[in-house]
Amino acid sequence: MLPLLPTFLLRLNPSNPSNHPTTHLFLPPYHTMAIPRSDEKLDYDNLFDTAEDILRPSEARELFRKHFLSLCASPALVDLMAQKETLPIFQAHSSATPKRALVPGCDRGYDALLFAQHGYETVGVEISGSAVREAKKWTGQQIAAGQKTLSPMGFILADFFEDEWLKVLGIGKEQFDLVYDYAFLVAMNPTMRKKWAKRMADHITPGSGLLVCLEYPLFRPPESGGPPHGITSSDYDALLRENFEKEMHYMPKRTHKVGEGSDMVSVWRRKEVAKL
Ligand SMILES: C[S@@+](CC[C@H](N)C(=O)[O-])C[C@H]1O[C@@H](n2cnc3c(N)ncnc32)[C@H](O)[C@@H]1O
Repeated sequence: MLPLLPTFLLRLNPSNPSNHPTTHLFLPPYHTMAIPRSDEKLDYDNLFDTAEDILRPSEARELFRKHFLSLCASPALVDLMAQKETLPIFQAHSSATPKRALVPGCDRGYDALLFAQHGYETVGVEISGSAVREAKKWTGQQIAAGQKTLSPMGFILADFFEDEWLKVLGIGKEQFDLVYDYAFLVAMNPTMRKKWAKRMADHITPGSGLLVCLEYPLFRPPESGGPPHGITSSDYDALLRENFEKEMHYMPKRTHKVGEGSDMVSVWRRKEVAKL
């Protein structure tokens, strides 16, 4: 039987001798679910040679990362989070109450670890078994190597568009203060985009919750297919403006190699919801 909490999560809570999360709003256990894998949602598989590559530690995935991405948290996100204390939109996140971050399609968990280092209780939701295994391994190694960690974090093997992972965490909707999307929206067939926007609005706390998008691949003509499927900043506007205020939009000084000279960062604040 799997231990309720993986070793690296226990290491993050040295002050909790019972090994049970009592002081935090949530602490995700390592959890594996049977996931219906709908090919209509998972166009992403085509990025690699076969769907098999997604399910086992994959050379294709490895090569893709090595050549096109940085083998670390997104430099654009690192720079944004470094300025957090000076940005008014993050002000509500500095209260004493623990804040929660979510990274859907987190792959190796580089960005999830960054959020935990900035004090967010963080969960990565990933549909690929090999990615979850690698994320756990990599994060565990970073922590063992003495990387600064502040908050509990974990990874769940699940489909972001299903509700099972919320049940695993024991939470409802609108519970995340910070959500990050990089190459997740565009990994899916564009027919999923409205559903993505609705799901983001459902999960982010009205008033103060933020969605950070590293907009990519802006250089790719939408008609050229994918994944990743081309997208424009106006597409993000059209998807998000109903439920979010666009608070920041800029070209980051540093970003993953694959998006240098074209990536944009947008930061969206979830609008207040009128109480009837
Ligand atoms: C192009 S990768 C981007 C990964 C990551 N955001 C990064 O910065 O490297 C897209 C990821 O989304 C995952 N994914 C695709 N559909 C998903 C879904 N419905 N639920 C959760 N993860 C999904 C894939 O397995 C893949 O790891």
